[in-house]
Amino acid sequence: DKGNHRHFMQKEIYEQPEVLSHTLGAFVDMTTGRTRIPNGQTLDFSNVRRIALSACGTGYYAALVGRYYLERYARIPCDLDVASEFRYRESPLGDVDLALFVSQSGETADTLASLRYAKGEGLRIASVVNVQESTIARESDVVLPTLAGPEIGVASTKAFTCQLISLAALAIHAGVARGVISPERELELTRSLAEVPRLANEALALEDTVEALSREMATKRHALFLGRGFSYPLAMEGALKLKEISYIHAEGYAAGELKHGPIALIDDTMPVVVIAPHDRSFEKTMSNMQEVAARGGRIILFTDAKGAAGSGSDMASTVVLPDMPEILTPIIYAIPLQMLAYHTAVQMGTDVDQPRNLAKSVTVE
Ligand code: M6R
Repeated sequence: DKGNHRHFMQKEIYEQPEVLSHTLGAFVDMTTGRTRIPNGQTLDFSNVRRIALSACGTGYYAALVGRYYLERYARIPCDLDVASEFRYRESPLGDVDLALFVSQSGETADTLASLRYAKGEGLRIASVVNVQESTIARESDVVLPTLAGPEIGVASTKAFTCQLISLAALAIHAGVARGVISPERELELTRSLAEVPRLANEALALEDTVEALSREMATKRHALFLGRGFSYPLAMEGALKLKEISYIHAEGYAAGELKHGPIALIDDTMPVVVIAPHDRSFEKTMSNMQEVAARGGRIILFTDAKGAAGSGSDMASTVVLPDMPEILTPIIYAIPLQMLAYHTAVQMGTDVDQPRNLAKSVTVE
């Protein structure tokens, strides 16, 4: 049932404040502010030397944010692969002690094969999964549940942001176990995570602004998405969302890679989506944005009030998000990117919930 929404995708975008709050509740005791592994399970990070993450599609981009979180908040080195490569690469696992998988369906063939490979190599297996009765959940030593509820739209939305909030809480939990995060800092970070439902609602309120920008996007054949640091995985996720449902060719790049090739694509017809909250990467991303502007690129900038003030905003269509702690930016900035893809696809009249050639769950290679 789509309720009063036109598509399941839109309904699922709107469910995010609620399902993010449920998912967070599994990982954080909201009365004490302490993180935990859900359902009474344990996962001891104190002696983990290295984590190997893998997943497919949107799950892979969630895992990429997960790597940034685990490295920054728990100081654990991480490897990351798309599952279709991990399963065959026979990479020497060296000091990897834990394999971490991310899957909405829990049935993706390549992710499952990677899990079985890692298990065969004697690794401990933890999986962030949305479908609790899935094969990946059953075969994991530790199940990290996302409580997004059933996701019908082929383009993943609420499952992605729930994966991110789980991984953020997990990284904090790991940081505490390793003595990298003090108990006070843990409380501060979980207090930040508790702001997610409110901030997600504020992001949803940007729908009309984003819809207006989608009108021009719908006239394009190509688009480039740029981000740095925590926003780099989002650039790729934003591009994947757009290409899946609008069939516009979109590429996500680390903003610092612009000069190494993609800048050749920029002319006054090229839309460039820049994701740049006012964080430690902001100034660098702005200089990349100026390079795009100097070549006439049509910029859509997602930033906050401080970022908008510092961007020389006349060169971009700017969408201003609320201020938020750095750890939250991937979760909240995902929402307007989902809405941009959604409204572009609606303008173009594609089958948003069942885009051509795609299946919700890829159970064969
Ligand atoms: O069920 P999974 O999370 O394992 O699925 C992985 C990908 O097939 C999935 O994320 C796909 O990329 C989505 N259609 C993205 O919107």
